[in-house]
Amino acid sequence: MQISIIGVPLDLGQNRRGVDMGPSAIRYAGVVGRLEAIGYRVLDEGDIRVDAAENRDHDDSKLKNLNEVIKANKALAQKVSEVVKDGRFPLVLGGDHSIAIGTLAGLADHYSNLGAIWYDAHADLNTAETSPSGNIHGMPLAVSIGMGDDRLVHLHSAKVKLKPENIVIIGARSVDPGERQLIREKGIKVFTMHEIDRYGMTAVMEEAIAYLQLRSVDGVHLSLDLDGLDPLYTPGVGTPVPGGISYRESHLAMEMLEDSGLITSAEFVEVNPILDEKNKTADVAVGLMGSLFGEKLI
Ligand code: ARG
Ligand code: MN
Ligand code: MN
Ligand code: MN
Repeated sequence: MQISIIGVPLDLGQNRRGVDMGPSAIRYAGVVGRLEAIGYRVLDEGDIRVDAAENRDHDDSKLKNLNEVIKANKALAQKVSEVVKDGRFPLVLGGDHSIAIGTLAGLADHYSNLGAIWYDAHADLNTAETSPSGNIHGMPLAVSIGMGDDRLVHLHSAKVKLKPENIVIIGARSVDPGERQLIREKGIKVFTMHEIDRYGMTAVMEEAIAYLQLRSVDGVHLSLDLDGLDPLYTPGVGTPVPGGISYRESHLAMEMLEDSGLITSAEFVEVNPILDEKNKTADVAVGLMGSLFGEKLI
């Protein structure tokens, strides 16, 4: 299968500038060559057009930069949908995590029982009512299960993009009160750092994979926020939370996903080269992509 790379230089879903340069940093870290070396044909589709933050309209919605976030995500949804239609694997490079709204909207055109692995320090299950920040990058998972502002929920299509019971969150350690409640109400499967520490990444991934297989999903999207890892390994993120997943555990997780054959699309988000140390975070992202696509020594 051919891989299509789609860059989304969006930084308006959160407060800190620089994450719009994530796609460039990941390309600079050699993503195309890395995947080609495994044997894939890689098509770099370039970047989705995003209006410069300096030119944005000033709306007074509780959701920051709502119009621009909607605009970029609509274009992304369209692109992702085309890529899947043409039989290629969409690999989306962020950009802040609000871009998952567009990715999932595009995927929803082609899957009726999509699964999602949300590899993240956060649950990204806020709505305008529960958000402590108003930042849309804290909301994409809520939007995808149909909760939150209608303009986001119905973006690209009217359907609900993900069923709560088809979601597995891995690495959570900073969850807001409203998100906690939603997790309980909707029965969303979460492996926090506690489970990873207690049972180990092998057991957690085995359980996550078995859970999604039991749900008879027709595809699984991996949404990997680089802040899921400990900031020791990925310092170039806007909302770092200490006590995260290690480098080795993350490679193991990617290799187990590769072995499962479940993953049908992926995105790597929140790489912010301005906050980074010599492009370390983009380098880790590309290494993880290598493992996800089957780069094993023997
Ligand atoms: N829960 C916090 C909020 O809603 C932080 C979200 C961080 N999300 C992320 N994709 N890094 O603002
Ligand atoms: Mn996060
Ligand atoms: Mn509605
Ligand atoms: Mn996130």
